[in-house]
Amino acid sequence: MKAAVLAEEAARLEIRDLTLAPPGPHEVLVRLAASGVCHSDLHVIEGVLPVPLPAVLGHEGAGVVEAVGEGVTGTKPGDHVVLSWVPSCGHCYYCGIGRPDMCDEAFSIQMLGTLPGGGVRLGDRGQEVYHFLGTSCFAERAVVSERAVVPIRTDVPLDRAALVGCAVTTGYGAVVHTAQVGRGASVAVVGLGGVGLSIVQAARLQGAAQIIAIDRVPEKLDLALRLGATDVVDARGTDDIVTPVLDLTEGRGSDYAFEAIGRPATIEAAYGMTRKAGMTVVVGIASPDEQISLNAFAIPSAARILTGSWYGQSRPQEDIPAILDLYMAGRLDLDALISRRYRLEEINDAFAALARGELARGIVMFGGGGGEGDGR
Ligand code: APR
Ligand code: ZN
Ligand code: ZN
Repeated sequence: MKAAVLAEEAARLEIRDLTLAPPGPHEVLVRLAASGVCHSDLHVIEGVLPVPLPAVLGHEGAGVVEAVGEGVTGTKPGDHVVLSWVPSCGHCYYCGIGRPDMCDEAFSIQMLGTLPGGGVRLGDRGQEVYHFLGTSCFAERAVVSERAVVPIRTDVPLDRAALVGCAVTTGYGAVVHTAQVGRGASVAVVGLGGVGLSIVQAARLQGAAQIIAIDRVPEKLDLALRLGATDVVDARGTDDIVTPVLDLTEGRGSDYAFEAIGRPATIEAAYGMTRKAGMTVVVGIASPDEQISLNAFAIPSAARILTGSWYGQSRPQEDIPAILDLYMAGRLDLDALISRRYRLEEINDAFAALARGELARGIVMFGGGGGEGDGR
C-alpha cells in the first residue's frame, strides 16, 4: 500500500509502497478516506518534535474499518471511524482519575513509535517503519489499536470527520473542557490554523461576548470573523500583539487567552494579554528544548492561571461523536476549515502551504468515502 514516509528530519516525505501486517489482537485495519495535514506533523518534519524515524506521519484521519483482530468488540468491518491519537489505556493512574488525555501508557508508546500491542506493523522491504502517534494515516490503510478507533455516524462526510481527529477536538476541548469558557467571556486566540479556528468556533458556541483573533495572515483574520471572532489583530510586521488586546479590553486584558502556534514568544504574549486572575491556555506544541520567561512578581500579583491542553482534554469516544453532531446540526462549521484537498502524491505541497500559513486545513484525500460534491 502507498504511504508517505519521513525517512529523516528535514527531508521531503516520500511516497513508498509499504507492507502492512494484518491486525493483531485488539487491533483494527482501517482504509483511510481522508487525513488532515496538521502542524504537529510539520513539527516532526522540522525536527521540533523528535520521534523515531523512518515513520509514516499523519494523525488526523477518518476512514472505514476493513477488518478487526481477535478480541475487538467496539467496532466491526464497514464502520465509519475517526482515529484518535491518544489511545488511552484505561488502567493507569491518569485514566483512573478521569484524565485519559494524560494517559502514561499512551504517551510512552507515542514516543516509541510503536502500537499499544507492541512493535510495528509497517515495513519497507524488510526494514521496520514506525507509527506516528499510533495512527500513521498518510497511507491508504492503517493498522491501529482498537483504543484509537472511534466509530461515528455514517452520514458525516469522512473528510470533515477527519478534522475532528485532531484540530477540532484539540481546539474545541481546550475551550469547553480545559478553560470552561462561559457566557459573556472575553477570549483571545493567538494563531488561526485548524486548531485556532476551532477555538474561535467553540468560544462562540460557549457564548463568549468578545473573541479577539490574532494571526499574521490577513485571510485567516477574515475567516475568523466569519466563524465568530468579534475583533482581529493583524500580527504582520509586529512583535507586540499584547497592546492591541489590552486596547480592545479596556486596558485589562482578556478573561482567557489561547495560544495555538507553539512558540515561546507567542506563549509569553498570550500570558501577557490575559487579565489579572484570568486564564492562559497553551495549546500549541513547542519543542521540548524550549523555555519561556515570565515575570516572577506577576505570578502572584496578577494571579493568572497558566495551563495547557493536550488533545482538548478530551474523551475521544464521547467527544468526537458529539462534535460531529454539532456539525450535522449546523452549529459548528467544518466545511470552512478545509482550504484545499490534495492527493497523497502532493503531500509535500500541502506541507509547504501549511508552513506559509496559507491553510486553515489542507487535507489528503484517498478517494471513496465522502469528499466534495456531497452537497454540504
Ligand atoms: N504571530 C501570529 N500568528 C502566527 C505567528 C506569529 N508569530 N506564527 C504563526 N502564526 C499563525 C500562522 O499564520 C497560522 O495561521 O499561526 C497559525 C498556525 O496554524 P497552523 O500552522 O495551521 O497550525 P495548527 O495545525 O492549527 O496547529 C497549531 O497546535 O496542535 C498544535 O502542533 C500544533 O503547535 C501546533 C498548534
Ligand atoms: Zn492510561
Ligand atoms: Zn494534530
